[in-house]
Amino acid sequence: MEHKQASLEDIVSLSKRRGFIYPGSEIYGGLAGTFDYGPLGVALKKNIENLWWRRFVEERDDMYGVDAAILMNPKAWEASGHVSGFSDPLVECSNCKNRFRADHLEDPNVCPSCGKKGTLGEARQFNMMFATKVGAIQDDSATVYLRPETAGGMFVNFKNVVDSFHPKLPFGLAQIGKAFRNEIAPRDFIFRVRELEQMEIEYFVKPSEWEAAFEAWRQSMLEFGKEIGLPDAAMHELEVEAEDRAHYSKRTIDFEFDYPFGRKELWGLAYRTDFDLSAHQEASGQSLAYMNEESKEKIVPHVIEPSFGVGRTMLAVLASAYREDELGGETRSYLALSPKVAPIKAMVSPLLKNKPELVEKAKEVRKELQKVHPAIAWDDNGNIGKRYRRQDEIGTPFCITVDFDTLGETPELADTVTLRHRDSGEQERLSIAEAAERIRQAIA
Ligand code: GAP
Repeated sequence: MEHKQASLEDIVSLSKRRGFIYPGSEIYGGLAGTFDYGPLGVALKKNIENLWWRRFVEERDDMYGVDAAILMNPKAWEASGHVSGFSDPLVECSNCKNRFRADHLEDPNVCPSCGKKGTLGEARQFNMMFATKVGAIQDDSATVYLRPETAGGMFVNFKNVVDSFHPKLPFGLAQIGKAFRNEIAPRDFIFRVRELEQMEIEYFVKPSEWEAAFEAWRQSMLEFGKEIGLPDAAMHELEVEAEDRAHYSKRTIDFEFDYPFGRKELWGLAYRTDFDLSAHQEASGQSLAYMNEESKEKIVPHVIEPSFGVGRTMLAVLASAYREDELGGETRSYLALSPKVAPIKAMVSPLLKNKPELVEKAKEVRKELQKVHPAIAWDDNGNIGKRYRRQDEIGTPFCITVDFDTLGETPELADTVTLRHRDSGEQERLSIAEAAERIRQAIA
């Protein structure tokens, strides 16, 4: 069916109205580059993270999860090259004093804010790490950074995991957590923010095996995209040119996505060589070499790094799922979310809220369905059509209604319910056990 493509406005407005994502500290006028996740946003985010964790950690024998501290010894960020090199080019307008990223300007001679020509100064490098102080002493020795990527926490734990688990190469570490970047110009809702969340993997390989591992991870990333409902047609791979790659990378592919505001980076896949382990080895004085027990050979492993931004993934999921169509002569907007990521898996409703026997039976049905998944909502407000619309808008795949036939008014229909499908609006009559099975299969 033809449907209207989502604009960013549609997504921002639905996210706020229905409790997915709010502007950060909104009652104080907000804080640029920060967002707060509401009840449905948290559920969607956790579902995406849990699918990622299951696929890339729990279902594999070669992956180890970690959850490292956000604050790290600042020497780690000196060794990784972030203190000296994690910067963006900044220009300032001498007329309006606004600041911009030099590499994002449409015309380097015109200020995008006040429109004056020739007022943008020379570009200077602006380090994007947030610095703060630890403890009661406030001099320079107390400076630490909020981590700009979760990766750092994994490199410094490489030796710990090797010593505890003795994994064989290749193996990887995985982590989901916050990272912070003092972006010069946060923009496009949750696309470019200052406080972000990443799901990252550092996969350690023998140097000669990096290409095969890189290719395998490329495929795995695409498969994950499919699982969470990102359409193939909206995903594109960009081989990043040497001059645009991060300082640690010898090969990078950006997975780009067709967002409502254009084709932009969704995820990255990088070959970080032995850059990080070697740098940390040198700076810490600790050996990070890996001893191959069979060959008795000592090597510093090389690294393939699949990196996923959680917010950018959510925005891609929401943009892909947003639909507007006509149903029953009315225009409706809905989210065609994969049941696996949908915050609510089904809604149960008594046909009439003032009939205690219907309400009681519907509560029983809900309890039964919650054995399949706890995220089964209850709604008895307003007429049934309005309840359906509310669930459509938040992407609930199924609505289940308990009516007089459920109670046995037509004896052969006793203990059956109607199950309505979100996308088509079609309904079918089935037993409570069959309804449970539908939900089980949809989220499996
Ligand atoms: N450890 C590698 C690394 O951090 P990156 O390309 O700088 O590489 C990885 O970031 C991913 O993190 C990006 O592909 C994107 O999904 C997400 N990301 C980076 N900066 C972001 C920002 N300011 N706001 C939201 N997501 C961001």
